[in-house]
Amino acid sequence: MNDSNILSPSSDTDATPLPPLIPADAAMGEYRAGDLLAPDGSSVDRRVFVDEGLYRLEQERIFAKCWLYLGHESALPENGSFLTMTMGEDPVILVRDKTGRLRVYLNSCTHRGARVCRVDSGVTTSFKCPYHAWTFNTEGQLASVPRLGPVYGDKLDRSLHGLREAPHVDSFGGMIFASWDPQAPTLREYLGDMAFYLDLMLDRMEGGTELIGGVHRWTINVNWKIPSENFAGDHYHVSSTHGAGVEMGYRSRLSNDGYCIQTGNGHSIGSERGGAQQGTAVKTDYDAFIAQMRSELVDRYGESASAFVPIGVGTIFPNMSFLDSARFRSFRVWHPRGVDKIEVHSWCLVDKAMPAELKAAVRKQYSLAFGPGGIFEQDDGDVWQSVQDNLRGHIGRQGRFNYQMGLGREAPTSSRYGPPFPGSTSDILMTEANQRAFYRHYASLMADPRCKP
Ligand code: FES
Ligand SMILES: [Fe+2]
Repeated sequence: MNDSNILSPSSDTDATPLPPLIPADAAMGEYRAGDLLAPDGSSVDRRVFVDEGLYRLEQERIFAKCWLYLGHESALPENGSFLTMTMGEDPVILVRDKTGRLRVYLNSCTHRGARVCRVDSGVTTSFKCPYHAWTFNTEGQLASVPRLGPVYGDKLDRSLHGLREAPHVDSFGGMIFASWDPQAPTLREYLGDMAFYLDLMLDRMEGGTELIGGVHRWTINVNWKIPSENFAGDHYHVSSTHGAGVEMGYRSRLSNDGYCIQTGNGHSIGSERGGAQQGTAVKTDYDAFIAQMRSELVDRYGESASAFVPIGVGTIFPNMSFLDSARFRSFRVWHPRGVDKIEVHSWCLVDKAMPAELKAAVRKQYSLAFGPGGIFEQDDGDVWQSVQDNLRGHIGRQGRFNYQMGLGREAPTSSRYGPPFPGSTSDILMTEANQRAFYRHYASLMADPRCKP
């Protein structure tokens, strides 16, 4: 672990303040906030997961504003490296320009809107639109137009037709994020105290991290918030949804001992104390790696720090989640594809300095558990889809989901685990405190407290 990169949390003693309670009469699309959520996030109306108008509002107020994960630096090793991704429903190109700077462009031609780049990734000096062949360089400028003089005369000002560019691109621990909001806080401010925990996961060995095995993609017919809130820290479902994996001994039975930490801005993590996911059926060389990382953290912060290697599950608001388990590290993005569908992009992450055999073992364990055919992934996807299916009917979309578990048990994380661990945590593992923080933040972005509908 690189000492100099360990971040200082914002405070050793104060709990991260929860997002403000939204006034019940604040407008949220055509609804009042009070029609849709309890002010403390302890209940959420079923329409929040199925209403088309709210979904369009999410595209505007969440996906066009928040910092969103786009790619890992290891996937863009040289100038001209690029990948295509989406920010919400907006297609984008992430490219390293010829000076090495990371840039993000809307992947839509400024002529008449066609998808400019239609491959997943590569290395290039330009992007040529397949429709009429306008061509843009990696700086986003309109570099050439077929038959410019004969068809446009002097009427077309190429300098006004560069690709639309996102105003903010930045990276943290190798993870590249972007925001469309000109007024966005810095990425570091946006991550807030989550940066401290990300650092524990990403800065374990000299040389940093890399992706292995490419990206897994699959679709699930579910609203994007259902998996986001699950990975925010839903330990209550593990024994039932993943009961088969527990019976097989792939992972241990859950006690109620652990943390669910809210780190501000809707982000959160959760884990069993002493390490998530460890069962007796499978032993891998990763166990020794985890033990080593744990002992380094305990040397640094004391015995209670052992709970934070691995750090467990987490969600970076709105739709990036990770799982740092005793067998692998993985992260995924739940890309919305309509109100009732997501495209999951999932990656396996390793430290570059790990031996090749250990990397291969980690990749296998990731695929076994949380690849698209993984036993745990299948469990979750099946249940999530049933939630969405049950919102189709007239009766099924009435009423509210309940998030009251563990209400009122939050306290500063440092009061339970000692400094420097930031955020607010509960004294029990099974709580919906993280989901409440997620929906309070969601409401603070979606509602406009200045106007009534
Ligand atoms: S739409 Fe791209 S060149 Fe016409
Ligand atoms: Fe699960």
